[in-house]
Amino acid sequence: MASKKRLVSGIKPTGDLHLGNYFGAMRQFLDYQEEYESHLFIADYHALTTAYEPEKLRESIYRVAAGYIAIGIDPKKVTLYKQSDISEHSELAWVFNCITTMPFLMRAHAFKDAEAKNKEISVGTFDYPMLMAADILIYGADVVPVGKDQQQHIEIARDTAEKFNSRYGQTFKLPEALIREEVATVPGVDGQKMSKSYKNTIPLFGSKDEVANAVMGIVTDSDGEFPEYVYEIHKLFRGEDELKPLYGENKSNYKALKEALIADAEKVLSPMREKYNALLSDKAELEKTLVAGSEKVKELASEKMMDVRKKVGVSLN
Ligand code: ADP
Ligand code: TRP
Repeated sequence: MASKKRLVSGIKPTGDLHLGNYFGAMRQFLDYQEEYESHLFIADYHALTTAYEPEKLRESIYRVAAGYIAIGIDPKKVTLYKQSDISEHSELAWVFNCITTMPFLMRAHAFKDAEAKNKEISVGTFDYPMLMAADILIYGADVVPVGKDQQQHIEIARDTAEKFNSRYGQTFKLPEALIREEVATVPGVDGQKMSKSYKNTIPLFGSKDEVANAVMGIVTDSDGEFPEYVYEIHKLFRGEDELKPLYGENKSNYKALKEALIADAEKVLSPMREKYNALLSDKAELEKTLVAGSEKVKELASEKMMDVRKKVGVSLN
């Protein structure tokens, strides 16, 4: 049997997971867990660029771990681990730093946005794409399922692989981003991209009330027009062939439409929420899963780093 292609992706532990994470990225992780040899990790070192409270960060790490499993990822089939447990990611990022120019990284959207907002930009934020390139390239990933906002980061990883290969000889495979067009950018309650940083999220594992409150807060036009943002989110849970008549009949009855959305969401979310809460009540078990996962990938990462050290000339034999 031909060996499976490899999938790599990660999520930052920076607050609660939301519908954008689930439909944009995590559903792909789930749907591909049989087809690919999957490595899914918790991008805790990336989170350090914005998460400055150690206790909160620790809690978020458990939450992302529980989140992966609660949506149906099977840790026996998929390797789940913490980025910081594999120090080779950061080591490789340093090597990439040394073949990458400042102007190249200055073209990254995340950097440009932060600059446009006059934010104080840490070196870690600037360098974020190099660590991400290392996360992906160190395992020779074939595919990287993500939401559209991460597309540029995958392109940067490809460019970095090409640059390294042309300077030191064939070493890294060029990964492909997997982005689902229909959920590439899931909108938040204000119609902008749903994102933790915009405070416009609907929580994936929130209580029924929290989800209902968020849905009730979805912005609707006040002139009785079709409630576009409600529909866009509703579409994630029910087929358009059923939704169209429902929205046709209740055109300006926003309350009824939002209640229908809450009920449809609840059917999908409640079994996952139960599992999530149960998983979080046994943190020692979650930790065991992450340690076992890191033991599985450590060897791959360390072999690749040995090769890299030889290629660049720091290894003496
Ligand atoms: P956030 O933007 O809320 O901080 P993350 O950066 O942690 O979310 O994203 C984790 C994964 O979820 C990434 O693959 C990202 O592309 C995806 N994702 C996040 N928000 C959305 C969205 N609104 N629509 C589609 N995918 C998303
Ligand atoms: N930057 C990604 C995000 O914000 C998280 C991430 C870090 C990632 N390393 C990765 C995603 C490697 C895919 C592959 O969502």
